[in-house]
Order: sequence, then structure tokens, then C-alpha cells
Amino acid sequence: MLDIQKIRTDFPVLSQKVNGKPLVYFDNGATSQKPQVVIDAISTYYQEINANIHRGVHTLSQLATDAYEVSRAKVKNHINAQFLHEVLFTSGTTFGINLVANGFASILKPGDEVLVSALEHHSNIVPWQMLCEKTGATLKVIPMNENGELIMEEYDRLLSPKTKIVAVNHISNALGTINPVKYMIDKAHEVGAAILIDGAQAVPHLKPDVQELDCDFYVFSGHKMCGPTGIGILYGKEAWLNKLPPYLGGGEMIKEVTFEKTTYADLPHKFEAGTPNIAGGIVLGTAIDYMNEIGFDNIQKQELELLNYATKRLLEIDGLQIFGTSEAKTSVISFNIDGIHPYDIGTIIDKLGIAVRTGHHCAQPIMNFFGIPGTIRASFSFYNTKEEIDLMVDAVKKAQMMLS
Ligand code: ALA
Repeated sequence: MLDIQKIRTDFPVLSQKVNGKPLVYFDNGATSQKPQVVIDAISTYYQEINANIHRGVHTLSQLATDAYEVSRAKVKNHINAQFLHEVLFTSGTTFGINLVANGFASILKPGDEVLVSALEHHSNIVPWQMLCEKTGATLKVIPMNENGELIMEEYDRLLSPKTKIVAVNHISNALGTINPVKYMIDKAHEVGAAILIDGAQAVPHLKPDVQELDCDFYVFSGHKMCGPTGIGILYGKEAWLNKLPPYLGGGEMIKEVTFEKTTYADLPHKFEAGTPNIAGGIVLGTAIDYMNEIGFDNIQKQELELLNYATKRLLEIDGLQIFGTSEAKTSVISFNIDGIHPYDIGTIIDKLGIAVRTGHHCAQPIMNFFGIPGTIRASFSFYNTKEEIDLMVDAVKKAQMMLS
């Protein structure tokens, strides 16, 4: 088992007090905290090798370029991509999805269909809606059941040769449901559709194997897996990345520019115009190393224990309802208390040092499905403890008393 108390000392923010109370950080679904090695790696980059990459012959530029490319290789190994050039640095999940959706504008025609699911974050809905508006394609939605699980019979029914791309999350940010993505990928391919997996909420909990999954695109953000904000990854199969047009035009993504015609650089540079988040790219590698040292098996064991314990403890509270009750679920609990607005609970428990997210979690269709304005969402990481869960339960009970 993990020595959680020791691990917690890696995260300086966790020993803070907030509103005079020890911080209980249960908003890991929004962003994870950062270990000292990650914080240090950011300043080391700026103190020692700050320079622009892929541009200069000078030593610092080469050191920065090497560090950036070493990190790309770490990501490649981590997700088991076949080729290094299938791993693109982006600013985050949202950017990756928009890049792919924009690229499909050159492929789709009226009558084609794009499939998303009822469990998506807005960032995996809106870019596809924009694509459909642009191309005359139709957006179809895979429905879910009361447990917050996608209905696979409906998915099978919706798929057809008209389906050109499916976009679905690996794990729901709002409910924690783990979707049967392997099944969905295989089914999409049977009708000749491409499939993009939004892994933003998956990468803090598991190590995706993109070759085993056989997905066409896999996107995620660094900041939810102990890395800095403003850095993310778009994995795409080589053939797809060669087929899609560039997203941004600019420096570094070209082979040759004249006023008559520009030819584009090879992968991955074709999709990496402009000076990127160099420090973020390098430090994402540090974060991946850190998480692998802890070990994803250990992470999953600890988080499952927290999920089970918190579910049991929260259900002791009268009038508390959990949304998202799938058997296949990660360490996220979305809940409400009868007759009380989630925002009010969130505000009161913040005064008691407990950080949770309240609201629609950028997933309004899920809230509409349940007929609620939002939920209180507690999302746990491997560095959280059962004692912290007890503090949250006490705080929620206190808030309930004050508000009813
Ligand atoms: N998508 C992030 C969340 O679920 C911000 O909170």
C-alpha cells in the first residue's frame, strides 16, 4: 500500500490552511495539485535552459529542444503510441478536440453524422456542433440511463455508414462513469467511422494504451495529472494526422513559404505553429514520471478505497442523493441534498476548508437529464485520505443543518 502521509509531503499546497481550517482538496477533477518535483522543474527550466525550441543553433536552444523532445518521448511511451510524431503538444484537451473537429470540416458533407454522448463535457459537444453547422452534417447523441451509463444498444443502433466520427469521453467528469471505450472504438471502426476519446478525466487514474484501444485520436490535459496548466496532448494515428489540414498557420509549421504557396512541415510540427508552452511540455514529462513512480495500480487501489468509503459515509446523510451510480466508476461523487441548492452547500463547506466543485460541471445536458441545476462534486486523488472524507461529511452535515 502507498504511504499516503509521505506522499502528501510531496504536495506543498496540501499542508495549507484555508479559512483557518486545514485544506481538504476534493476538486481534483477540475485540476490536480502539483508535487514539489513538478514545481521545481518549472523553475529549473527558466533558471537554466530557457530558450526557444527548434530554432536556434545555440546551446541553450538545443538543450531546451532536447528536453522538450525527451518529454514527447515520455508521453509516447506512457500512452504506447506507435510513433513519436503521433504525439502533438497542445494547450489542453479543449484545443485538441477543436483541432480535430476543425480538421473534419474538410472531410464531412451534408448528410454525414457525428456522434457524441449524453455524458460529454461541453468541450466535447460544442466543437462538434460548430463542425456540423459548418458542414451540414448532423449531430447525434448516444443516450444514457439513470445510473449515468451510456446505453450500448442505442449506440449500436445509431452507428451507420453515415457516421464519420464518434467523440466520447473515457471517463465522465461530472459523474465519474468509466465508459466502455474499447467496445465503442471497435464498433465505430466496423462502420468505417473515426473515433476520438477525450481522456481528460482518465489520465489521472489510468494509463491509456492507444494501440491496444486502437482509437484514432486520444486527447488529454497535463494539469489533471500533476502537471502544469496550459499543456496537453493530442495523440492521433499517423494516417489521420497526415489527412487532416493544419489548424493554426504560423512559424515552425511550414516547409517553405512564398506569397504564392506554402508547404507544410512534417508531423508533428504541422500542428505545432508558434512558440509553444515549452516549460509546460518539458514538465509534463516530470509529472508523468512522478505518477509512474507512484504507480497506476497503487493509484487505482487507493482511489477505489476512497470512493467506496466516501459513498458509504455520504449515504448516511438524510436526503442525500448520488448522481452517477455505475459499477464502472472512478473516484468522483456528484451529489445533492433534498431542498438545498448545491452552491449553498459548496459555499458553507468552503468556509470549513473543504474544496469541492459545485454547479453543472460544464456538462449541462447531464444536469438537464436529471432535472437538476447542478451537483456538489467531490473528486478524489491518490493523495486524499479517509480522514479528509470524514471532515467533508461532518461539514456537509453542518451545512445541511444551517440551511434546513
Ligand atoms: N473539466 C474540469 C472539471 O470537470 C474543469 O472540473
